[in-house]
Amino acid sequence: MQNLNWYPGHMTKARRMMQEQLALVDLLIELADARVPAGSRNPDIAALCGSKPRILVLNKADLADPVRTERYASALRETGQLVLIMDARTRKDTGGVRRAMEEACRAKIERDRKRGILNRPLRAMAVGIPNVGKSTLINTLAGRGSAKVGNRPGVTKGKQWISLGGTMQLLDTPGILWPRFEDPDIGVRLALIGSISDDILDIGGLASRLIRYLTAKYPGIMERRYAGENVRFPVIEGEDQTAHLRAVAMVRNLWKKGQEPDLARAAALIIDDFRSGRLGRISLEDGSI
Ligand code: G4P
Repeated sequence: MQNLNWYPGHMTKARRMMQEQLALVDLLIELADARVPAGSRNPDIAALCGSKPRILVLNKADLADPVRTERYASALRETGQLVLIMDARTRKDTGGVRRAMEEACRAKIERDRKRGILNRPLRAMAVGIPNVGKSTLINTLAGRGSAKVGNRPGVTKGKQWISLGGTMQLLDTPGILWPRFEDPDIGVRLALIGSISDDILDIGGLASRLIRYLTAKYPGIMERRYAGENVRFPVIEGEDQTAHLRAVAMVRNLWKKGQEPDLARAAALIIDDFRSGRLGRISLEDGSI
């Protein structure tokens, strides 16, 4: 493991910024990547947000295995958590956000009402580790029909609030959480979804880990995408991990000078196909990777 991107200096700064932003809002919209629903959440979030209500958005659900996403969501819902499953790029999926915000803040709205305070803005911010879709969600929510609310006293200069209709407002800049994990498998998963630097392993190592996982958990998926007429994919168990890479390089005509299959380009291709969903809807937390 190398180059984890986040060392204590970064972390301290991120934590301080997060705490400043947190002071401005009533609730948090926590985003995670549905393909790595547990590992793409920051385990410090509960401590950071204290008693503020929180909604969990399992984003990029269009890329994830729907059965596993639903299973993760239902287990959390049973504990009383508000969980949304969505594709932040589309407006149709964001309708639930406002309802969930209202639901999350029901106790607060009720408390305010008893004190005679009506229509006080409910303010939220989106938070999550890099690349989980925070900016995309903000942009989709801010789409047509929304208006920016100007700076208000007590609001840090430069902060803009996006009106979501009714009394709901969303901070226009996301809170960036740092990935935190002790388990190296989580590092591999986070590198595969692009939330930490690929350098955690070399790209060939990362692709090999993905292939091994896919072979075990999604049998046939590699063959469906890459097998040419004359190529049979080798069974990978206990074998040379580069066998699949070699096969993909040959099928896709990726050669180095001297007619050697270009394993690095094959690895990059497979990872790119996974990230974009071309390999299919895949979740990465079904056992070790
Ligand atoms: P961040 O703020 O949390 O760092 O993430 P950001 O919104 O920048 O999104 C990271 C990438 O993920 C973007 O793609 C974005 O389009 C994509 N994305 C966000 N939400 C979803 C989703 O629900 N489903 C899918 N399939 N993709 C999503 P990009 O390739 O980096 O940029 P772009 O070329 O799409 O603009």
